[in-house]
Amino acid sequence: MTQSSEVAVVTRLAELAAIGRHSAGISRPLATAQERAARELFATWARADGYALTQDRVGNLFARRAGTFEDAAPILVGSHLDTVQTGGPYDGAYGVVGALCALALLDSRRAATAHPVEAVAWVGEEGSRFPFGCLGSSVFAGLMDVDAALALVDDAGTSLRAALAAPDGGLLREVTSRVGTRAAAYLELHIEQGPLLERAGIPLGVVTAIVAQRRYQVIIEGTSGHAGTVPMDQRRDALCAASELILVLEAVAKSAGDSVVTVGRIAVEPNGTNVIPARVTFSIDARSPDERRIDAIEQAFQATSLDVQRQRGVRVTMERLESRAAVPMDPILRQALCRAVESLGEHPLEIPSGAGHDAMCLASIAPSAMLLVPSIGGRSHVADERTADADLKLGVAALAASILEVDRSLHAK
Ligand code: HGY
Ligand code: MN
Ligand code: MN
Repeated sequence: MTQSSEVAVVTRLAELAAIGRHSAGISRPLATAQERAARELFATWARADGYALTQDRVGNLFARRAGTFEDAAPILVGSHLDTVQTGGPYDGAYGVVGALCALALLDSRRAATAHPVEAVAWVGEEGSRFPFGCLGSSVFAGLMDVDAALALVDDAGTSLRAALAAPDGGLLREVTSRVGTRAAAYLELHIEQGPLLERAGIPLGVVTAIVAQRRYQVIIEGTSGHAGTVPMDQRRDALCAASELILVLEAVAKSAGDSVVTVGRIAVEPNGTNVIPARVTFSIDARSPDERRIDAIEQAFQATSLDVQRQRGVRVTMERLESRAAVPMDPILRQALCRAVESLGEHPLEIPSGAGHDAMCLASIAPSAMLLVPSIGGRSHVADERTADADLKLGVAALAASILEVDRSLHAK
């Protein structure tokens, strides 16, 4: 790496942020030309930094820094390059660029590790094109069968298999195929995407646990008709039914406490200004540190939808698309990360993560832990997602120190 790691993390993130930028933010859905360009850039950096590059069948990329014991399972350090449709420059990208910069920092200090360390760019974390979040890390961790993942189709009916075979969004060429899915440990550096670190005035956070999450799809079927001629008491308006259910969902989430529920996507058919909506499809994203609260929200929604069906004469179906239990981070690694942060003269804030991360999947096969840096205004998944350069740089230094601490604690076993 020609620049110092602290400088590189800022310049590389700026270079990456230009890929997929549009008027409302950054968009790099999995296996599109933009997201492939981001993977190409990662590969270019990894090669320039002297790391051996491998790629698996769904496109996850691994940049390997040799360890003293080359046959030891690697410590994986990564995040994701894909984004939501109106994403910011740091969600995921910071953890991928930060991982490469942390390795370069270790190189500049000639700091050896017993374990090989691999910087990883996971694919499809956001689930913004194919209907499954943390797709690449789920396949790597064996939580999703690779052929089932490749069979997923996007809204246009294109399968992931076809998208990865296409020249513009596909797998990178001339990259060695990845064999094996061993990991001695997993670390992820990420922006907090919430307000806690900024509010506490603390620049580094260590994650205690990632909240439980469920994603659903709801379909409401009513009866279409002429907007001008069907009397109000004879309508089976799918959109009015959906509106009632969505507001009930909000009220139930508020009363359940320590939970969040979001309806982020909705589609109305036939979607004409003078036609009564016949069919509405909407998404539900429900999260809580306590999965029983999500159960309560799901049950309350189902009870209400029975009432709405009776009163409005519509049909409501609800499909659970994803369900993830809360994932505690590894206590030994958390202590190692806290030691690493304190070695920099900082005191970490230990907080839960309301955002989901690839660490949820890696935790099923290896001890996993996460470092967070502040998000200005607590904002993320928006164009004005911002983190101060000083915090970006401090996070890289903390990640490099964490890799050494984790390597030592693993090697001491
Ligand atoms: O939805 C999430 O929490 C993550 O950004 N995929
Ligand atoms: Mn995200
Ligand atoms: Mn993310």
